[in-house]
Amino acid sequence: MTTREWVIVNPAGSRRVVVTKELPGARWLQLLTAADCRVEIAQGEDILTAEEIRAACGEHIDAVIGQLTESWSAEALGALKAAGALIYSQFAVGYDNVDVAAATRLGLPVGNTPGVLTETTAEMAVALTFAAARRLAEGERMMRAGAYHGWLPTMLLGSLLYRGTLGIVGAGRIGAAYGRMLVEGHKMDLVYYDVRVNAELEHYVADYAAFLVAHGEAPVTCRRAEALEELLRACDVVSIHAALTAGTHHLMGAPELAAMKDEAVLVNASRGPLIDEAALVAHCRAHPRFRAGLDVYESEPAMAPGLAALDNVVLVPHLGSATTWTREGMATLAAANAAAILQGWPVWPAAAGLADVAPFLDDPEPPHAAPSIVNAVELGLPRLAAQPQAKEDQS
Ligand SMILES: NC(=O)c1ccc[n+]([C@@H]2O[C@H](COP(=O)([O-])OP(=O)(O)OC[C@H]3O[C@@H](n4cnc5c(N)ncnc54)[C@H](O)[C@@H]3O)[C@@H](O)[C@H]2O)c1
Repeated sequence: MTTREWVIVNPAGSRRVVVTKELPGARWLQLLTAADCRVEIAQGEDILTAEEIRAACGEHIDAVIGQLTESWSAEALGALKAAGALIYSQFAVGYDNVDVAAATRLGLPVGNTPGVLTETTAEMAVALTFAAARRLAEGERMMRAGAYHGWLPTMLLGSLLYRGTLGIVGAGRIGAAYGRMLVEGHKMDLVYYDVRVNAELEHYVADYAAFLVAHGEAPVTCRRAEALEELLRACDVVSIHAALTAGTHHLMGAPELAAMKDEAVLVNASRGPLIDEAALVAHCRAHPRFRAGLDVYESEPAMAPGLAALDNVVLVPHLGSATTWTREGMATLAAANAAAILQGWPVWPAAAGLADVAPFLDDPEPPHAAPSIVNAVELGLPRLAAQPQAKEDQS
């Protein structure tokens, strides 16, 4: 018998929406109440079990806004559909915890929140890159322990990233944003490994290289690696940004780690299971000059035995999207997805970047559309005919 507390907003609303965690900001609730929703928000920090979610949905539910920490299996989605839900809306861009194929079979749209996490998560990957390369956590621990006894020429020497070679595994929205930050800021040459060509990124780096040459500086380069191993052998930093799928699970195992340079930096702000964490612990033990920066873990919130004891690993608790602006934006997009589907509105034409979803975040009258439904094509959901033109500069 659950003792969980729930906060009910707009109790007289005709549509029932269950929200499995308290969300930040106010706009998301305004969108749902404007759509005549009664919003039931679970309180507490622990993860709701499937049974708890099912009990909360009861006999009838219109939509659920859920979390990446929950398991949205075929069974859970089936129960949702049976209770009359028209959408499962995920408060995240990644949806590896959702059986989307099952949702599609059930005719249930699945929403996600792309665009607002891109730069925020890329910045966290940059922070981890520097923290690992320049041994920030070791230095901080030394200061707090009172173990700093004066400057030394050989103390905590790290790696210079400027003009080094950067590897991105998964050059999608976040990977490409991270790549541009380090190419532009630190003039790194870029190698990426992705199942798709990212022509936009390649052109961008080519243009930037021309800009550098025009300013009397050496150019930077960008190329797509044919194989992951080619990237791993070439790069000083490797950052993982591919989504977690059956094909990317343990993409980085013992052989891949062994292919990396002994003093390389490995960053993961994607999903933990892309790295075989036990293999990483063994590799970091055997290669003390190798460094890793991790935001995500294979069995969150647990860590592989031995990981926390390693000095050459920087650890943060899944903070990739943790800025106020981004989390409020995610809440807005998740609510907009639910509100739109409940009102029978079409799907927004594209949600690749921030510019695409900005009208949902900022406009007093947001578009009558769902910002991002991951199985919209498979379900044959109608889309708005064309994205509105950007407002003209009036100045
Ligand atoms: N740490 C965090 O808090 C946080 C925040 C946001 C997103 N994420 C994770 O980051 C992931 C990426 O987000 P995004 O918005 O950039 O997604 P995206 O879809 O734009 O990019 C993913 C890229 O990975 C590529 N890819 C797919 N399979 C691959 C493979 N086998 N090998 C190499 N590349 C492959 C895709 O082609 C795509 O370009 C999300 O799926 C999510 O899990 C984590």
